[in-house]
Amino acid sequence: MSPPVEYELRRRTFLAGSAGAAVAVHLPWNAAAQQPDSPSPVGSERSKVSLVVNGERRSLELDNRTTLLDALREHLRLTGTKKGCDHGQCGACTVVVDERRVNSCLTLAVMHEGDEVTTIEGIGTPDNLDPMQRAFVEHDGFQCGYCTPGQICSARAVLDEIAAGIPSHVTADLTAPIERTDAEIRERMSGNLCRCGAYSNILAAINQVAEERT
Ligand code: FES
Ligand code: FES
Repeated sequence: MSPPVEYELRRRTFLAGSAGAAVAVHLPWNAAAQQPDSPSPVGSERSKVSLVVNGERRSLELDNRTTLLDALREHLRLTGTKKGCDHGQCGACTVVVDERRVNSCLTLAVMHEGDEVTTIEGIGTPDNLDPMQRAFVEHDGFQCGYCTPGQICSARAVLDEIAAGIPSHVTADLTAPIERTDAEIRERMSGNLCRCGAYSNILAAINQVAEERT
């Protein structure tokens, strides 16, 4: 027996709407998704993308599947950001996008049209170290150094997140200002792995910078 006409029309309308929404969500370069801050499609597989990286506007034409990490490393030659697992598990690729830290291996460059990206190259220089970089040096917060750019990007963001009152999984009292405890810092840094095991020294470096900020 065929379904009532009204049911069939509603079902078709729903499916058509859902399909359109799915395309808009998963294909940000689709013409239907074009917004002022959308990348410009070049054919069906590539897009022109403009990012503000370390304060400088950079324009790229990329395969739509290019991760932000590969855009930074392979296209802009900013190799300070490291590729560890390429699967969101190690934190070596951590950068800051519009004041939020992200794993750059897990996000596509075309999703960041117009965004401000800060990498380790934008944080300090050998002659003018950021306080967090200086603290890592003073506390031996690294050995091989491979995880260090991601650790430093994360560490600065962790202190900002605590100051902004953003709770973590171990925050006990959600109604009071967040206390900067070792447990808070360890929890918030848990996405940044260090195979050399410099964790206690990294913690000491972060605590030093937090003391300097107060
Ligand atoms: Fe991105 Fe490991 S390289 S989390
Ligand atoms: Fe070697 Fe962290 S310093 S992996």
